[in-house]
Amino acid sequence: MPAAVLGGVLCAGNLVHDVVVRPVESLAWNTTAWVDSIEQHMGGNGASTSYALGILGVPVRLLATVGRDSPADLWLTRLAGVGVDVGAVVRSPAPTPATVALVNSRGDRFFLHRAGASREAFTDPIEFSPELARGLSHFHLANPFALPHMRRHARQVLRRARAAGLSTSLDTGWDHSGRWLEDLGPCLPETDLLFPNAEEACRLAGLEDVAAAATRLRELGAASVIVKLGAAGCELFTEEGRLPVPAFHVEAQDTTGAGDCFVGGFLAALHRGRDWLDAARFANAVAALSVERLGATTGLRPFDETEAWMAQARPAPYSSASRNRPK
Ligand SMILES: Nc1ncnc2c1ncn2[C@@H]1O[C@H](COP(=O)(O)OP(=O)(O)OP(=O)(O)O)[C@@H](O)[C@H]1O
Ligand SMILES: [Mg+2]
Repeated sequence: MPAAVLGGVLCAGNLVHDVVVRPVESLAWNTTAWVDSIEQHMGGNGASTSYALGILGVPVRLLATVGRDSPADLWLTRLAGVGVDVGAVVRSPAPTPATVALVNSRGDRFFLHRAGASREAFTDPIEFSPELARGLSHFHLANPFALPHMRRHARQVLRRARAAGLSTSLDTGWDHSGRWLEDLGPCLPETDLLFPNAEEACRLAGLEDVAAAATRLRELGAASVIVKLGAAGCELFTEEGRLPVPAFHVEAQDTTGAGDCFVGGFLAALHRGRDWLDAARFANAVAALSVERLGATTGLRPFDETEAWMAQARPAPYSSASRNRPK
């Protein structure tokens, strides 16, 4: 049986104001290009996973640092609307992190990111006071690589979470500094569920083969490794062995944040007492609903509605597990 996530989830990560512009085919300085749409969406690993947990009915408290600005007001109101406790979110004088994504007609994306308040976030390791952890039984660390301070003391944070009686999970994200295992290696023995995508698993382990990489990450201390494989679904590496679980068939519109929604779905299924296979299928479904719509969390729906959707959905045609591209 997987580590039961019986109570709610304390989720630490970033919240990002995303502006998506499409289509943009080329950039010519000192000219104006007319585009079809300029949309704003809620992004960031911590915000997306928390939103998924909230709409799926799991008690969740978000730990993040945002600005004292209107994008933060907008997205915190949206999170609270699905039941996410945003009372511990810190307001910084720095602006809310923001990303402008330029998307061309083929779906290729170019990101401009301003870290803003993320640079101020988690300057000290989280202290899991009884008030902070009240009613919660699991700690999820959503992409320490996006949080410059957090990456330095992620191991200590995970240790403290366990000392406070919480089980732990970690979504790796892409390491733009290229340090990978140097920073994340010490975290692995403190991690119950590790959620890398295929490319991240390979970079971390320093191996070419996804299965060999996942096995290595377990040897280095992660109790279970769940590898996200994009349109191919996911593969579980647990004490029970290796289990590939295919994705659902959807017309993909926007894969941004699919991994964060996947994690929310996985933890929500465990919260309901589901086993590994059911949790992986459910996570694939939540992520499929995410990729079907523009914006990381726009397509998500409550737990029972997600199950009803699964009952009529088709599995994706088989595609061999390929390594994801950096983003
Ligand atoms: N084209 C697709 N069709 C169906 N499901 C998909 C598709 N792309 C992604 N998914 C689902 O989303 C999950 C997570 O996607 P992916 O493997 O890209 O994670 P990730 O790289 O961590 O994503 P993120 O962009 O959020 O970091 C997959 O495991 C799968 O369930
Ligand atoms: Mg990811």
